[in-house]
Amino acid sequence: MDLPFDGAISAYFENDAPEAIRNAIRRADKDDIITASYPHSERMARKVYDRQMERLQIELVKLQAWTRASGTRIACLFEGRDAAGKGGTIGRFRQHLNPRSANVIALSKPTETEQGEWYFQRYIKHLPTKGEMVFFDRSWYNRGVVEPVFGFCTPAQNAHFFRQVNPFEAQLVDDGIHLFKFWLNVGRGEQLRRMLSRESDPLKQWKLSMIDVKGLAKWDDYTTAIEDTLARSHTDIAPWTIVRSDDKRRARLNAIRTVLHAFEYDRKDSKAIGEIDKSVCGGPDLWD
Ligand code: ADP
Ligand code: AMP
Ligand code: MLT
Repeated sequence: MDLPFDGAISAYFENDAPEAIRNAIRRADKDDIITASYPHSERMARKVYDRQMERLQIELVKLQAWTRASGTRIACLFEGRDAAGKGGTIGRFRQHLNPRSANVIALSKPTETEQGEWYFQRYIKHLPTKGEMVFFDRSWYNRGVVEPVFGFCTPAQNAHFFRQVNPFEAQLVDDGIHLFKFWLNVGRGEQLRRMLSRESDPLKQWKLSMIDVKGLAKWDDYTTAIEDTLARSHTDIAPWTIVRSDDKRRARLNAIRTVLHAFEYDRKDSKAIGEIDKSVCGGPDLWD
């Protein structure tokens, strides 16, 4: 299959990527983590990961049963740069859940009708009803990050968004929705490495878009927009959980733990959940 941007990622890697990143990717073994500031140098061993993940997924099944029985509403939104691992993390959450009450919402760019609506309107339709968990793969935070970086919204629309987002989320929480906001943080080298692997793998190519290709050159613009967004939308009522995702395995485990720890569901096994690794999952101070 030829993509319209066939070869664009490797061309960026060869011609434009910072020298240090190119070298780090070339030097890295399969299990090496190439983000220097990441607190572990290798990704978690497969066996350890699988064992922990199975225990967590059993807990998620219990959580879902309790959620349905108690009429609880849970919304988890996932944000992060391209290739941060949003889709994969959501996939692990949902792997053994009944999909009917654990929907994933990944909206495409707004249609013309949607552009004429209140910005939050198209997302509201997908918020959970009682007994449901909803996973947002990207969210209204597009207007805080992707849209300004690519000029898809005006500065006035971006400012308007920031005036509305905190009161908006406060209303959701006030109405009883349990809202989790995950920010998946991936280093520049790891992002590029994943995109290269997506480009060369026919089963992963669908994950690439023109946005990803053009976005590679906009790393610093993204950084500015992300810092701005985190600073302005981290509130007591709807805080961000930063998940350092250079190791996808630790990222997924700790995101799931964050949700499980928040509820007192039936037959909860705290030992099976285990402790959150605070060096990779926690408050905005983890962002870098
Ligand atoms: P993803 O990374 O979620 O697979 P893309 O990389 O193609 O998808 O796009 C990133 C985000 O930018 C998506 O949420 C998409 O809807 C949004 N987006 C793309 N084009 C536009 C546009 N013209 N206006 C507003 N949002 C857009
Ligand atoms: P995956 O999507 O999990 O199949 O991984 C995408 C690519 O990243 C594969 O080529 C992996 O081998 C590579 N990779 C290497 N190290 C890591 C790591 N620490 N975390 C995630 N992916 C990694
Ligand atoms: C991911 O799973 O890494 C993202 O959701 C997809 C992307 O932005 O490329």
